[in-house]
Amino acid sequence: MWRLKLFRLLVPAFLLFGVSLAYGWPWSRDMKDQPSIKPQEAPRQPPANTVPRDGWERPISREEAGQRLKNPVKATEASLQNGKKLFEIYCALCHGPDAKGMGPVSTKFIPPPDLTLPVFKERTDGFLYGTIRNGGALMPPYGEVLSSRERWDIVNYLRSVQGR
Ligand code: HEC
Repeated sequence: MWRLKLFRLLVPAFLLFGVSLAYGWPWSRDMKDQPSIKPQEAPRQPPANTVPRDGWERPISREEAGQRLKNPVKATEASLQNGKKLFEIYCALCHGPDAKGMGPVSTKFIPPPDLTLPVFKERTDGFLYGTIRNGGALMPPYGEVLSSRERWDIVNYLRSVQGR
């Protein structure tokens, strides 16, 4: 009889602690820990003491970018087209396709402002560029996923949407 009692105690104890311990064993993560690049993970880091051939952009705050950076990319048809495409991929989910807000994520996140309002029209190109690169007070940064050229294309597109 006492054996049955012990068994009844041990089974729930094993289910509670034994199973969770089993996940901690070194071989239980073998399939997960591997050298392949995971989704959303940065690709290989550049080797130490090297610089990319197309230059390296030094860290710059959004305010400094607003004062110092001049837009080097002319708002050609190709730049606007590319900016529109990238805006639809990276920005419209929050800002909406016309930058007036109400993208599908805005209902779950802080609703972003209408970017066609005068206050945002008056921002310099550099400040918009810095916002895309570093993010805003709440907006996430997009510096990692967009090249410098792509950010200026988005700035040009945003300007055309703002009618400026
Ligand atoms: C996850 C939602 C989200 C995404 C994605 C997003 N934004 Fe924003 N954005 C916001 C919010 C919220 C604000 C207002 C608060 C702030 O400035 O952080 C904002 C503010 C801005 C501003 C105004 C900054 C200012 O103060 O002048 C600009 C310009 C802007 N976003 C551009 C973009 C562009 C361009 C993209 C795409 C590369 C983008 N945003 C992607 C949420 C987002």
